[in-house]
Amino acid sequence: MNILVTGAAGYIGSHTCVELLNNGYDVISLDNYSNSSPKSLERVEEITSKSIKKYECDLRDVEGIEKIFEENKIDAVIHFAGLKAVGESCKIPFTYYENNVSGTVNLCQVMAKMGCKKLVFSSSATVYGGNDIPYVETFKTGVEISSPYGRTKFMIEEILKDAAVSDNEWKISLLRYFNPIGAHPSGKIGEDPRGIPNNLMPYISQVAIGKLKELSVFGDDYETKDGTCVRDYIHVCDLARGHLLALERLQKDECEGVEMYNLGAGKGYSVLEVISAFEKASGKTVNRKFAPRREGDLPEFYADAKKAKEYLGFETELGIDKMCEDTWRWQQNNPKGYE
Ligand code: NAD
Ligand code: UFG
Repeated sequence: MNILVTGAAGYIGSHTCVELLNNGYDVISLDNYSNSSPKSLERVEEITSKSIKKYECDLRDVEGIEKIFEENKIDAVIHFAGLKAVGESCKIPFTYYENNVSGTVNLCQVMAKMGCKKLVFSSSATVYGGNDIPYVETFKTGVEISSPYGRTKFMIEEILKDAAVSDNEWKISLLRYFNPIGAHPSGKIGEDPRGIPNNLMPYISQVAIGKLKELSVFGDDYETKDGTCVRDYIHVCDLARGHLLALERLQKDECEGVEMYNLGAGKGYSVLEVISAFEKASGKTVNRKFAPRREGDLPEFYADAKKAKEYLGFETELGIDKMCEDTWRWQQNNPKGYE
């Protein structure tokens, strides 16, 4: 079975490719490498001893997407490609809407034309905005989203719902990720942010290895267990497995139009708890200081993980210690990422 993976060379895409190949799927990758390196796909091939058919293609290029569908019989698409930096999206919103929203519309138009209507989409917990916790799939979305990036995810979800209303052959799984961290246990693939990381885990690991001086912990006066923000961290390999389960459900025709699932552990860890888990896993001290709150951060959110368990049979298996161990192995083996 041929699965087109957009954004395959990226952090979550590469881990999902491993899972797909190990489970007998054939992978066709589409990526423009704007935030990744083709080397990650070579490493995926090394890990799995299988090969990937690779296309360097931008989702803004409709002819490029059509060519891939003309040259291959695609059974389903897992769609990761998009820009994801929250802060950057506030500075260059048009670029985000063009890449993420128009790119997805282009992809879906080609899919419809070629008769491939099974899609798994990378959404985000950010669509819930400032709702109560835990976040449940039935909550209203799109209300207090704090960035253009988050709004692209909300808009794409709405567009995909419209697609399913217009044509009942569409089977779509919207996967709302919580905070993916960790790396493949081989230490060969992992998160490789360009420049100074925005997210907590890559920042911590670069401090631990001595690349960055110290971590700023944004805020120590939130109404949480220890004053720092609480998030629902999920190991990227668990997340990758969630995609396979969603895909299987689409293949079995169990999916009714559009379905949405939280992919999270269902519990939260504070920034300080993550730091101490990382120190334990790495044996290193993570230098840190308290800094003012970061604009747009919510104090605490985590998933209600029941729906994914009931319909996909998905539960996380890898805890915070394993997330830190695997991140550290990746960081030590690849101090300069894929460079
Ligand atoms: P990533 O940046 O590592 O991977 C995205 C990939 O898409 C990259 O390889 C990039 O080169 C490619 N890409 C970007 N724009 C493209 C375009 N126009 N055409 C073709 N390729 C393009 O990001 P990731 O962490 O692997 O995230 C994957 C998806 O999951 C994204 O859609 C992201 O928004 C979503 N997501 C990520 C997180 C997270 O914390 N990592 C959380 C929630 C949702
Ligand atoms: N943090 C620090 N110092 C840092 C980086 C982060 O203290 O240098 C804190 C943040 O304040 C936050 C926590 O660590 O409390 C996690 O921050 P991340 O940036 O790693 O993750 P976020 O929860 O802010 O972002 C995630 C996803 C986005 C998504 C967003 C909103 O990465 O894709 O949730 O749902 F848009």
